[in-house]
Amino acid sequence: MAQASGQVAEAATLLVRIAQKLLIAEDVVRLELVLPDGGPLPAFEAGAHVELRLPGGLVRPYSLCNDPRDSSRYVLGVLREPKSRGGSRAVHEQLQVGQLIEISPPRNRFALASTDGRALLLAGGIGVTPLLAMAHVLHARQQPFALHHAVRSTSRAAFWNEMQASPFAANASLHVDDQPRSRVNLRGLLASPAADDHVYVCGPSGFMAAAVNEAKQAGWAPAHVHRELFSALPAAGPHVVAERPFTIELARSRRRIDVPIGTTALVAMESAGVPVAFSCEQGVCGTCILPLLHGEVDHRDSILTNEERASNRFFVPCCSRAIGPVLVVDL
Ligand code: FES
Repeated sequence: MAQASGQVAEAATLLVRIAQKLLIAEDVVRLELVLPDGGPLPAFEAGAHVELRLPGGLVRPYSLCNDPRDSSRYVLGVLREPKSRGGSRAVHEQLQVGQLIEISPPRNRFALASTDGRALLLAGGIGVTPLLAMAHVLHARQQPFALHHAVRSTSRAAFWNEMQASPFAANASLHVDDQPRSRVNLRGLLASPAADDHVYVCGPSGFMAAAVNEAKQAGWAPAHVHRELFSALPAAGPHVVAERPFTIELARSRRRIDVPIGTTALVAMESAGVPVAFSCEQGVCGTCILPLLHGEVDHRDSILTNEERASNRFFVPCCSRAIGPVLVVDL
């Protein structure tokens, strides 16, 4: 994750206007954001997201789903989460057309691979949003691809009308859980991968885990399986160590901050007046990643790759902890 230290230092925000807010499916609103002067927005890549600064101080990441070649607007889809901790509820209930809000610049940790091979885009529910932007790019590149969108019912098929009206309509399929003959067959879709095929998966944790497991069983190369998490995956097993207190040392000031049991390093640092950018607080979004200099981490996030964990260069303070007594971060 090369941009980890950049994320820490990055403070710039964009002020945008909500140009459109539409209920496009059960519990899903579609937002269009534009610059107040109507000028071009910063460029983004397919798979990128922006973080919305919401009323009440909440910060939440949402994927951009429009064609990245269109710099006039950012389009997002936001599901009202039944267990919302306030973010999606604020979007649904408080944001209004014409309102100005702050957002982060686009960031991407779910990029398309540089390859001419076939792309398989697998979306569960609102996870379709980054894959829509990918579909625009793949179609423009004339690269072979298929987008499969699995939903619980047709009333929840957000963006399906847009997909049917798009130039890549023939590449898109809808799968509906409550219609037995239309249910998604992940095993069939992932069978027999070619050497240069890549699969991109986005959706709820159960859908993601099933897709990644089927890909593994079918022999996909791990590096060709790309995923974007919206919520933390269920823990695969016991943590490396039982929770215990530890200390965060800030290398530049030599300041030490105690992290007691029951408190995250992120909260302890905030309480000590050391603000760290954060968003999901679940180890999913990557916003809070800190550069690590010394110490051994009990990784509890769902964002770092195995290689990043093995490098011992990153620490996700919203959920991960220390195995030893001290972690030294480059702050
Ligand atoms: S705030 Fe999202 S990974 Fe830490």
